[in-house]
Amino acid sequence: MDDSSKHTLILCFSIVLIFLFSFINQFYLDFNFYSSSSHPAKHTQISHHQIPHLSDNGTTSKATMQEDKSSIGGFERMEEGLARARASIKQAIRSRSYKSYKHHEAFVPKGDVYLNPHAFHQSHIEMEKRFRVWWYKEGEPPLFHRGPLKDIYSTEGQFMEELESGNSKFSAADPNGAVAYFIPVSITNIVTYLYRPRTTYSRFSIQNVVEDYIGIISSKYPYWNTSYGADHFLVSCHDWAPDVSATNPKLFKNFIRVLCNANSSEGFQPVRDVSLPEIKIPSTSLGPPLLDHYSPNNRSILAFFAGGVHGDVRKRLFGYWKDKDKDIQVHDYLPKTLNYSELMGRSKFCLCPSGYEVASPRVVEAIYKGCVPVIISDNYVLPFSDVLDWSKFSIHIPVAKIQEMKRILEEVSVEEYLEKQKRVVQVQRHFVVNRPAQPFDMFHMVMHSLWIRRLNLKLSY
Ligand SMILES: *[C@@H]1O[C@H](CO)[C@@H](O)[C@H](O)[C@H]1NC(C)=O
Ligand SMILES: *[C@@H]1O[C@H](CO)[C@@H](O)[C@H](O)[C@H]1NC(C)=O
Ligand SMILES: *[C@@H]1O[C@H](CO)[C@@H](O)[C@H](O)[C@H]1NC(C)=O
Ligand SMILES: *[C@@H]1O[C@H](CO)[C@@H](O)[C@H](O)[C@H]1NC(C)=O
Ligand SMILES: *[C@@H]1O[C@H](CO)[C@@H](O)[C@H](O)[C@H]1NC(C)=O
Repeated sequence: MDDSSKHTLILCFSIVLIFLFSFINQFYLDFNFYSSSSHPAKHTQISHHQIPHLSDNGTTSKATMQEDKSSIGGFERMEEGLARARASIKQAIRSRSYKSYKHHEAFVPKGDVYLNPHAFHQSHIEMEKRFRVWWYKEGEPPLFHRGPLKDIYSTEGQFMEELESGNSKFSAADPNGAVAYFIPVSITNIVTYLYRPRTTYSRFSIQNVVEDYIGIISSKYPYWNTSYGADHFLVSCHDWAPDVSATNPKLFKNFIRVLCNANSSEGFQPVRDVSLPEIKIPSTSLGPPLLDHYSPNNRSILAFFAGGVHGDVRKRLFGYWKDKDKDIQVHDYLPKTLNYSELMGRSKFCLCPSGYEVASPRVVEAIYKGCVPVIISDNYVLPFSDVLDWSKFSIHIPVAKIQEMKRILEEVSVEEYLEKQKRVVQVQRHFVVNRPAQPFDMFHMVMHSLWIRRLNLKLSY
């Protein structure tokens, strides 16, 4: 092929791309499940001129041209798929029904716990069909490709292991057809291995490792530069993870951070970032959690909490309620003779105050035990609040109203309580960690949060 025909070919690709994108942009819509009325504050928009063309200097070799060609093909198919997904979700919202690729849907989301059950169901169906994530292979364990599988930071390691297991349907076979890209770094393991012995609380090492990794993958592959990181994400449950982007806001402007520490006054942006549930997994062997359907009539304790006096919110809680009232059981660590899990099963409300950070494993523990969670926190963006209407199955008490807790809980009528308790049991499946993952479980919900952020993304070339 001579130079001029190469030029012509490149020009054709460019025109096709520009055409394709102006077409897709007409179909573009916001999947804002937060509420039916409000619009998302913003979505990531990458404007035309910022994005380099796939080949824009006309001097690419034949070999790179062929690569470009196949990547255009994969990219085109992928973007067409996303456009179809957007259209079918819109259709599901209009028709209040769903269209499945399967013969039989084992579970159909219904009822008030969902902001929009039809949109969510169709979106989940489309996600299973189309959402493929490329995880970069660079890097060695323990800092990369491996995370904690037990205890409070475990959702980080479980997510990573599930995606990289080789069995996940979400794992992309080819980066060119991928819809999103996973940066397989474990912040918890960085803290464990690089801060030992703990001589500093400086976040420098975390920032360095992640920035270096992005430097490597963005010079080796075109994907980061194509979207400015907007279809890339990391997953971490560690308290320090939000600081990963603190010193380089420009690099991380669009990057999706999936975090347990989802504090909206510390830079967590609900439209871009994803709130990850904190789940205290007791051992490396995952068994089915002990889900509880205790009859609501058998719950004789009004409110229950046991845990350390970590942070200001808990200090306040203990100050007002420890040993003050027999209906409000607030324990500073539980005596060995009492059974934590059983007490949660015998309580109407389970208190989930923020600790050193906003998230608490008690939220998921309460849900497993069929106990209505009482979220005592400010600025905590709850997991899956892009799909679930937490007000229907939990109570929120702002920190300033801890003193009024008993009144607030007593004001919940019997009917309302029974409704809420029923709905807690209804959402249990969304918080269960299955390995391998099952539709609508915790892993799928996290994937879904990523998926709708990707659907909202407008990439223009
Ligand atoms: C132009 O293409 C050549 C050959 O692939 C490449 O080495 C060079 O970096 C490109 N220059 C620009 C400005 O993209
Ligand atoms: C992506 O952009 C960076 C910074 O502009 C540059 O150094 C790198 O070479 C680019 N990557 C590719 C694959 O072109
Ligand atoms: C109530 O709790 C007790 C003790 O935990 C249990 O033995 C009993 O089966 C429960 N009854 C109902 C109706 O759930
Ligand atoms: C605590 O209670 C749960 C039931 O809620 C039971 O499965 C568990 O074995 C009990 N643990 C102990 C140490 O008794
Ligand atoms: C959330 O962030 C704000 C602002 O930095 C901070 O004051 C607050 O303590 C944080 N909340 C928790 C529970 O850590």
